Amino acid sequence: MCCQTIQKKREENSKVSARLKRDFSRGLGKHSHHKAPVKMLPTFVRATPDGTEKGDFLALDLGGTNFRVLHVRVVEEQQKVLKMDSQICAIPQDMMLGTGEQLFDHIAACLSDFLVSQDLKGQTLPLGFTFSFPCEQKEIDKSILIRWTKGFNCSGVEGKDVVKLLKEAIHRRGDYDIGSVAMVNDTVGTMMSCGYRDQSCEIGMIIGTGTNACYMEEMKNVKRVEGEDGRMCINTEWGGFGDDGSLKDIQTEFDRVVDKMSINTGVHTFEKMISGMYLGEIVRLVLVKLTEDKLLFKGQSSEALKTPGRFETKFISEIEEQDNGLENAQNILTKLGLKWELVDSRVVRLVCDTISSRSARLCAAALATIANRIRVNRGLDHLKTTVGVDGTVYRKHPNFSDELKATVRLLAPECDITFLVSEDGSGKGAAMVTAVAQRLALQSRLLEDSDGESDEEEEEDK
Ligand code: BGC
Repeated sequence: MCCQTIQKKREENSKVSARLKRDFSRGLGKHSHHKAPVKMLPTFVRATPDGTEKGDFLALDLGGTNFRVLHVRVVEEQQKVLKMDSQICAIPQDMMLGTGEQLFDHIAACLSDFLVSQDLKGQTLPLGFTFSFPCEQKEIDKSILIRWTKGFNCSGVEGKDVVKLLKEAIHRRGDYDIGSVAMVNDTVGTMMSCGYRDQSCEIGMIIGTGTNACYMEEMKNVKRVEGEDGRMCINTEWGGFGDDGSLKDIQTEFDRVVDKMSINTGVHTFEKMISGMYLGEIVRLVLVKLTEDKLLFKGQSSEALKTPGRFETKFISEIEEQDNGLENAQNILTKLGLKWELVDSRVVRLVCDTISSRSARLCAAALATIANRIRVNRGLDHLKTTVGVDGTVYRKHPNFSDELKATVRLLAPECDITFLVSEDGSGKGAAMVTAVAQRLALQSRLLEDSDGESDEEEEEDK
């Protein structure tokens, strides 16, 4: 790449970062947050693990195509989070677009089956619910869904408390009960599961079906929640960046088609340029255009190439593989019914690289904005921090993580960032959030009790 192109890309990324910085402040503001495209949602998670957490927990994980139920044990002495067992329940496509009641009844039924299989039905275990959608949290156990994203659009859930809907579905069955509930975004679970291993982990990031990040913000900047002391984890919901039109100048005609064809047109603009649910489709649209312009496959398309969704995001990773990429591209093109020549497969590979690189650089610009914000918040010249990461795009794509890291270094040179891939943030991390919430509740009860004692003593002294 020539110096000019590199310089231009850097300028573009810095521009994106500067806009996001402004949107972070709008999202955190007491009076500006209602209209802010980047929601900056308080999570009521006030601390990362300190290693003294312990106990048995249930975890639910809803956010992708499958729903998972887990039994997790947090062991204090060994500083370990153990997954005792888990079960996957598929969520059929029609249920993802059906009624909320159907969805929550299905979740309650899966949980019931799991409890029976684990012989846990008589117990009322605390439950961490990883619900990977934007929610306005009122407390750790009160979480109002703002809007569905990714492939979900169940009726009667937006604007409602998800914990209440889950509890109502469990009560409708009447055959088991659950203990206290902690609502967790997957980014938060990811940060917390890494936080157990590395206590300087204070950012969580997901680049999978959807994309998002959370980080520990100073309470004095979280104007929507009472209190000035300490920190709280903020779920940025950066996927909504650009929903007010602020990314129009960098959106392409292909981005606009993807948005128009999606089930939630006009929302999650940034996510639609980055995450796994959309990358394959962007590539497909570019290939269609190049074919129409007779620059690929001698102008001969195929039914498969013309069909939305047929170019899967995982193809991008396969095509960009270092050694077998070109061969993989050729096999995929053949499967898509296309007649290719060597040069076609090379062009297809270039298109995949362009789209995945753009995604990595946009993510990097957003991550650099967070890291810089934490550094400035703390008045530091230099910040050393850890990001817990998860998601198929980050994990599976051959160059994505390298490109992301390199761009973050350019955009946030005063931040030294370690990347830690999370081990099951949505399962173990959710249990961890629940465990930390319990520890804090216990500590504050002990504090209240000891305050009470000292009051009594003072009274006796009088
Ligand atoms: C959701 C976020 C979630 C992200 C990654 C987005 O669509 O709005 O809440 O964290 O996907 O799963």
